[in-house]
Amino acid sequence: MSSPEIRPAAAADLPFITEIYEHAVRYGTATFELIPPDLAEMTRRFAVLTDGGFPYLVASLEGRVIGYAYAGAYRPRPAYRFTVENSVYLQPAIHRRGIGRQLLQELIAECEARGYRQMIAVIGDSANAGSIGVHTKCGFQMIGTHPDVGFKFGRWLDTVLMQHDLGTGATTAP
Ligand SMILES: CC(C)(COP(=O)(O)OP(=O)(O)OC[C@H]1O[C@@H](n2cnc3c(N)ncnc32)[C@H](O)[C@@H]1OP(=O)(O)O)[C@@H](O)C(=O)NCCC(=O)NCCS
Repeated sequence: MSSPEIRPAAAADLPFITEIYEHAVRYGTATFELIPPDLAEMTRRFAVLTDGGFPYLVASLEGRVIGYAYAGAYRPRPAYRFTVENSVYLQPAIHRRGIGRQLLQELIAECEARGYRQMIAVIGDSANAGSIGVHTKCGFQMIGTHPDVGFKFGRWLDTVLMQHDLGTGATTAP
């Protein structure tokens, strides 16, 4: 397989992104959404993030989007403004080929360039070895587990929190 291009997402990528996320909602436990959002809702979410100045990236191969990653506000209260939460999703057929890592590394760089200081991953399902693995490989520290906070596909699900310093982290004022 040739290398994918990692680039900022555009509105024309949203049908691909919607399809990738739909699969994750319907069949996966990484997201706690139960009903896949449609293209209009994904477009609305994309606009909120990009209007807010957050990075939204895609991995594209031969003109087709095969994965995406974005950062958004961790929490709305203003003292959290230097902390972002990240998301990364790939088409199932191309897992474990280093593309998740490429997307996440580029997302970290984009957030550092924008002056953010902490990135938090809220990983659905403590059995999500792929997500825990890619975050570990990108230098995230394990913070801990919230046990049994979700219920999907007839079972209770944990969330796993991981965190990465961005730029100078907490060693300097923003
Ligand atoms: C999580 C996800 C983005 C990872 O992307 P990926 O391209 O498959 O991962 P990579 O190939 O970049 O893997 C990087 C490293 O992570 C670890 N890793 C990845 N998948 C793993 C798995 N299934 N089990 C254990 N470790 C894994 C490995 O250390 C790997 O490095 P290596 O292949 O050199 O050993 C992808 O699996 C995915 O889209 N999963 C479904 C959605 C999801 O869980 N998203 C995260 C939401 S928080």
